[in-house]
Amino acid sequence: MDSQDQKAGEHQQVFRLLNVNGEPHQTGFSVHHSLLEVLREQLNLTGTKHGCELGECGTCTVLIDGQPVLSCLELAAECEGREITTVEGMMNGNDLHPLQEAFADLGAAQCGYCTPGILVTAKALLEENPEPTRDEIVAALAGNLCRCTGYHKILEGVEWAAAKMRGDNDYTPPREAIYGDPLPGEGDSHA
Ligand code: FES
Ligand code: FES
Repeated sequence: MDSQDQKAGEHQQVFRLLNVNGEPHQTGFSVHHSLLEVLREQLNLTGTKHGCELGECGTCTVLIDGQPVLSCLELAAECEGREITTVEGMMNGNDLHPLQEAFADLGAAQCGYCTPGILVTAKALLEENPEPTRDEIVAALAGNLCRCTGYHKILEGVEWAAAKMRGDNDYTPPREAIYGDPLPGEGDSHA
């Protein structure tokens, strides 16, 4: 236990230097607090969402040393010295990450509650595998639940972002992904 750790009331208070989105944060919190709680309540990084707190929904996913982790199950006290990335760290300056662009352009977020966890999980996938198959994307996102979208636009968004990141500018998402299924008799009116 760190020498700066101290008893405070009933809860032991600990102090840790947390590296989040490339910035160091000296942070004090109760020893039992999860990384999710510290990100949202101490560091005001509320992009990471608080869902089930049981490891079942994936809304709380962040990257630790580049790998997706459920922050509701991770003790913040054990995260010192590791590189934590949240959805707030995905932008490059004022530029959206290609995943964020593709999700916005396709309407792949509806209520948006699942979106930060899905974006960081997909980011880790594309960094390891620049050209994933549809099945590989489905497998990577299997722990991220979405109750709104039906997942199609999410999967197409990841495929589109992967193409952009590979420099494949000829790739276009399926027409249905942008306009929806044609109405009866609509034919090629969107062409
Ligand atoms: S809040 Fe962490 S998995 Fe649901
Ligand atoms: S967009 Fe609402 S839960 Fe996924």
